[in-house]
Amino acid sequence: MDNRPIGVFDSGLGGLTAVRQLRRVLPGEDIVYFGDTGRVPYGSRGRDIIVQYARQDIGFLLSKDVKFIVAACGTVSSTYPPAEASQLPVPFTGVVGATARRAAATTRNGRIGVIGTQATIRSGSYQHLLKELVPGAQLFAKACPLFVPLVENGYINEGNPVTRLVIADYLTELRDTGIDTLILGCTHYPLLEGFIREFMGPDVALIDPGKSTADALVDALDALELLSGRTEGGQAEFYVSDTTESFAEAEALFLGKYGGGPVTQIAIE
Ligand code: SIN
Repeated sequence: MDNRPIGVFDSGLGGLTAVRQLRRVLPGEDIVYFGDTGRVPYGSRGRDIIVQYARQDIGFLLSKDVKFIVAACGTVSSTYPPAEASQLPVPFTGVVGATARRAAATTRNGRIGVIGTQATIRSGSYQHLLKELVPGAQLFAKACPLFVPLVENGYINEGNPVTRLVIADYLTELRDTGIDTLILGCTHYPLLEGFIREFMGPDVALIDPGKSTADALVDALDALELLSGRTEGGQAEFYVSDTTESFAEAEALFLGKYGGGPVTQIAIE
């Protein structure tokens, strides 16, 4: 039994989609979330900067005495070196492994699409793992750099014409490939799920990284004897690197009934 909180971080607010899923499957666990809202997006930056930011984010969560760190950010998960992650004083997971495994278990025709930030797609993280998991798979990857700013700026209301246009521009080619499974390779993207589902049609399964990772985390914490043993009443604390003003709105949007908890602005370095 371990009563310390689970640490979760993201470049911004997209990681809250993972927090929502964590609160669903582990309602008794405490969570400390850090969203680097002052420096979002990470996905258009180079590798060295992303690794530097990830180190700082992890350092902050370690200062909060967390028992496990989740990088709820497709970009960091695809970029932060696994060798460095294995040396951290607490266990660490990104979102790529659990999400790729769920996609592998879902596809029937072996044609799998991956969308993500430029850094995630460029890293080849999903493509490499899926090739191992689904021998003979045909993979179709597409960077969708405008999706994060659309989400961070609230362009997620059903039918928004700008969002529809951007989705059609990015996904038309992918839709024509005959994929039956599409990985939403960035934790912001589940907020666009309605649009993407409508565009891709009912025969394409959408894989949510936050959901896949939260489900896998239950087993990981159990195996490491890190569960608190509580089944309700978990508390959440939120930290951001920009002002906290817009957080309440974002919290309602991203967390819904799983929201609640103090939010504090910190300096990250
Ligand atoms: C970004 O900061 O560009 C998006 C984060 C992610 O890849 O999940």
